[in-house]
Order: sequence, then structure tokens, then C-alpha cells
Amino acid sequence: MWSPTFVKAAALLLYILLISSVSECVYASSTGTAPVQVAIAATDYVCGSGGNWSMQYTLRTLGGADWSPTLAVYGDMGTANAVSLPWLVEEVASGGFDAVLHVGDLAYDLFQCLYVHMGPEVQGRENWFLPLQEGGKVGDKFMEQVEPIATQVPYMVAPGNHEWLHNFTHYKNRFSMPGNSENYHYSWNIGPAHIISFSTEVYFFLEDGLKLIEWQYHWLEQELQRVSAAEYRGERPWIIAMGHRPMYCSTNNDNDCDHHNSVVRVGLPLEYKYGLEKLFYQYGVDLELWGHEHIYERMWPLFNYTVMNGSYENPYTNPGAPVHIVTGSAGCREDHGDFKKDQPEWVAFTSRDYGYSKMTVHNATHLSFQQISADQGGKVVDEFTIIKDYHGPYRAMDL
Ligand SMILES: [Fe+2]
Repeated sequence: MWSPTFVKAAALLLYILLISSVSECVYASSTGTAPVQVAIAATDYVCGSGGNWSMQYTLRTLGGADWSPTLAVYGDMGTANAVSLPWLVEEVASGGFDAVLHVGDLAYDLFQCLYVHMGPEVQGRENWFLPLQEGGKVGDKFMEQVEPIATQVPYMVAPGNHEWLHNFTHYKNRFSMPGNSENYHYSWNIGPAHIISFSTEVYFFLEDGLKLIEWQYHWLEQELQRVSAAEYRGERPWIIAMGHRPMYCSTNNDNDCDHHNSVVRVGLPLEYKYGLEKLFYQYGVDLELWGHEHIYERMWPLFNYTVMNGSYENPYTNPGAPVHIVTGSAGCREDHGDFKKDQPEWVAFTSRDYGYSKMTVHNATHLSFQQISADQGGKVVDEFTIIKDYHGPYRAMDL
């Protein structure tokens, strides 16, 4: 049995490990002896207070900049019809993932109370369950559902439209991402990657007017400037941005990304202020990850609807613009998305299957990506590698 002193020390260690991306980790042995420095470690911990403590979990801590982490990436999973969940749990249990990026639309919906089954006579996935109003039991269920994942590896989230109620209250209070923006926007390091998470929802929920948009945009500018400094980017060369609603998609809805001048891409209507495409291009963001559309699609390297492939033979080797991936097909109570009949030339690959993405940041030059289909029993339905000899502002386009 652990002594209270040791439990407190372990909890403190866990907190320090969670908020800092250190190149070495401190491993606290279960005998309570002095901590030992090791390269990558597993840390046992419990959570709770007073007489209420969780079972003991093991957290796999992060390696340094020369480490090659593998991350799960997906959006739009939900509690009902979480098709990808068993695959994710199994992969985490077997050590296949070092972290998770859940790019918004977490529980469908965190704030809702419970679901009522509508019976077999109701057609369509969306009508299988009727969500009742507030109460947060769906949020509780979601947290229990991802417990086998989030207790072992960092479970990093971005806000989606389904987190909206009461100014994103459940989203802000159920998670604790780095920084002090109430999880709206933040950044962190994993291996050779610097990951920037932000809210696309500030452009669509305008209870506070433009305040949140301006706040986030200025933070993004400062953050990109900070991590573009040679000494920083030399160590963490891959800049990966993640937000919920894509700039580009080829689905056949009337969502923001279906519009030529999507708000996330070019900014607010008429004024065209606070758009993110130019900003990310100027600072040489390497990869942009999105959800919201219940599909998977991979774009060719793209800026302002212009394909900027590295070369005809090797489009993702030294690309001339960021690579966009939409991976919002983890499951959820809504159905698969559909694509436009005529696909634009800037789309490289599409899949309607439920599934999730698997991203490995190998080193400073190589990042590989796979799309796993849960519908096809874990089959890899897409695979590509970005190779970059240089990370920084793109050169060719006239801004
Ligand atoms: Fe969404």
C-alpha cells in the first residue's frame, strides 16, 4: 500500500510531466525510493482526493525532440455509434499510440443528458437516439468511454460546434489543455513536432462579437512568430495546426468549407479579416488537421486553390504549401458524409468509411500518415509520407 506522502509526490510528478514536454522523464518507483532519470518511462499514478481514489493507471510519458511519436488523429466520434473506439482502445493498449488528437465534436454532445432509443421503425442513424436536453450525462459517458485511452496517453482536444452550449462550458471544464485560454487555443511539443490547436468556432458563435476571433488571431500570430525562430524550429521543425472546421473540403453540404471563400480560410465576410490560410502559409505551417465533415480526405499541397506539389512524381516531397487532411469520420450518431459528384482537382484521395488517422513524426524530414478504416476491419485505406528538407515560409505564391 502506498503511503499518503508517496501518493502526493506521485500526483505532483504526474502534474509536472503533463504540463511540460521534457526530453527526459522522471520515473517514480512504486517502492517510493528516490526518482530515477530515464529516457522514456511509464509512470504509475492514481487520481482523487480524501478517501476517494481511482484505480492505479500507468501513463506513458513523452520523449524528447529526437523521439518518433505516433499519434491518433480524428474528429467527430461521439458516444453513440463510436465506431472507431474499440480500435483506438486496442491500439493504445498495445502501445501503438503515444498521444491522441481529437479535433472537435467530442461526445455529441457533452452537455446533453441521455439518449432515448427511438426504435427500429425510425430510419437513419441520426434518428436512432434522441438526445434530451442538458444534464451532462453524455459528457460523463464520453469521459468514461475514453478512459482507457486518456489515462495512458495525452488526449488533446480542440473545440467543435457540438461543444457550443453555454459558451463551451462543458468543454472548458472537463478538459485541461496547456496554457491559460480555457482550452480555446494552445500549443505543445511532441517529438520533432510543435502542435497548435485552435478554435474555428470563434468564427461562428459570436456572442462576444469579434473579441474571441481577435484574441485568438493575435495569439496565433505571436505563437507562429515565436516558434519560427531558428533555435526553436531547428529543434521542432514540424508545425502542425489543428482545428475543427476545415478551410477546404469536397463534400456536398452547405458547410463553411463548401464555400469558395470559407470563413476559416479567408476571414470574415466583406472585410476578409482574420483568415487563417495566409497566416499559416506565411509561417510555413507543414500540416493542417481538420474534422467536422464525416469523411476522410487528403488534399494535394494547397494554397488559394492552387496545387503546389513538390513535383509531379513526388507531390509530398518538399511541397510548396501546407497539406490539409480532413479526418472527421471516427463515428458519431450522424451518418457518413457524401462527396460532390465532380471532385475538384486539388483533392488527392477520399474515403467515406468510419475510421481514424495514424500519424508518425519520424524525424526532422519525414512524417507519415495512414487512414485506418474501422468499417473494413482495420484496413489501411490511405497512406502517404511528407518529406521536407526545409521547414519555413513557402516561397512561390504572391500573397
Ligand atoms: Fe462539427
